[in-house]
Amino acid sequence: MAEQQQSADVAVTGLATMGRNLARNLARNGYRVAVHNRSRERTDALVAEFGHEGTFVPAASLEELVAALERPRKVIVMVQAGGPTDAVIDQLRPLLDDGDVVVDAGNAHYQDTRRREDQLRADGIHFLGTGVSGGEEGALLGPSIMPGGSGHAYEALRPMFDRIAAEVDGTPCCAHVGPDGAGHFVKMLHNGIEYADMQLIAESYDLLRLGLGMEPAAVAEVFGRWNSGDLESFLVEITAEVLAHVDDTTGRPFVDIVLDQAGQKGTGRWTVISALELGVPVSGMAEAVFARGLSGDARRREAARASLSGPSAVPDVGDQDRFVDDIRDALYASKLVAYAQGFDTIRAASEEYGWDVDLGAMATIWRGGCIIRARFLDRIRDAYDRRPELPTLLVDEYFRAAVADAQAGWRRVVAAAAQLGVPAPGFSSALAYYDGLRAERLPAALIQGQRDLFGAHTYRRVDREGTFHVDWSGTRTEQQR
Ligand code: 6PG
Repeated sequence: MAEQQQSADVAVTGLATMGRNLARNLARNGYRVAVHNRSRERTDALVAEFGHEGTFVPAASLEELVAALERPRKVIVMVQAGGPTDAVIDQLRPLLDDGDVVVDAGNAHYQDTRRREDQLRADGIHFLGTGVSGGEEGALLGPSIMPGGSGHAYEALRPMFDRIAAEVDGTPCCAHVGPDGAGHFVKMLHNGIEYADMQLIAESYDLLRLGLGMEPAAVAEVFGRWNSGDLESFLVEITAEVLAHVDDTTGRPFVDIVLDQAGQKGTGRWTVISALELGVPVSGMAEAVFARGLSGDARRREAARASLSGPSAVPDVGDQDRFVDDIRDALYASKLVAYAQGFDTIRAASEEYGWDVDLGAMATIWRGGCIIRARFLDRIRDAYDRRPELPTLLVDEYFRAAVADAQAGWRRVVAAAAQLGVPAPGFSSALAYYDGLRAERLPAALIQGQRDLFGAHTYRRVDREGTFHVDWSGTRTEQQR
């Protein structure tokens, strides 16, 4: 439409909840936003309901959307990851020119982002694979934004991103993560950490309930208290809220009327697969994905519930207050392990793909807006400020001391969970990781021996350089390979 020509600063296509709220956030911050959705109703509904919040330019087609933009054009795509994103990009491509920028703000797989960035670059179009976290509310009021792609494209979008992002201590929760897929990789890791954190919180709740017989409302109070200490975080805060909620139809605790099968859209699984491909052990995130999978396996759970036995006597966990404190310590230490594994994975990908990701900056932009926002992230940022090449967060001076203080309680909780027969895969695998890392000697030496015996896979010695093999089936003498 002629009257719409070149009247918008930015475009958003895909107006489901996240896209709509992002468009509103931009408009409320003074940007003129061209908006488009595959089915026209959503576009009209947005303009009818929120038109007063700023300047929206409705577009009936992608052609119209692009025509409404000032150059260089900036188009934010907020559609379902995978095929639908490719379809929109394919349609946009011939409509755009050299220097225009396409932002994919969905939860894309980083390998797709790498491919798309590469393809669009051939046409001179900049592609910013951008992680956006904060859910519905974050998108509207200030998300954490993780853009990946060319520095040039980032600079073009930077003022806009900084303006709409959450802010902590005057710093916007947005930073250029690195080239091509770096932004979406970091967003994926954010989600993996989110899974681990949620699982650990859920285990804490379960142990408080089953170990101490506490009611959800009482557990809510415990989380409320924890939220004013080192565990202060959005996830702990909302846990207290969910546990305090009462179902209005039955009057029962809300948590008791919800089917105990956790859903997942897949980003946690992607994280674990990607980390394994990079060779990083991410036991915290893996256990969280496994636990969701187990919870949803209704058929096996039913069969097992009817036939498998638990401990014959229920042990006494001892002093109630001490057990509550122990669980808090287990949560803190296990959470640190999960974050350490998450940051290790980002470092591994950064080295693999040459992204040069600044880990401290990632902790900084996760301090606000996103789902894992927490006081804890200030500590992580400080740790990387102190030592950018930190081999693992666990050896940072602050965290090392914190875990030293927490470990007695952590161990008691893992032991109690095993004795109670309450599953605590997050707590126990985190402790196993901690003990594995700090072990003087690991039984991996035995595994090397086994591998050499059955497959001549060779081994290295502690006292000499080189690769060796024992002639197991013959003379049993050692040969250098
Ligand atoms: C965010 C969230 C968001 C989301 C995921 C998790 O950062 O805003 O991580 O991306 O809630 O979709 O969803 P699942 O638990 O369904 O995998």
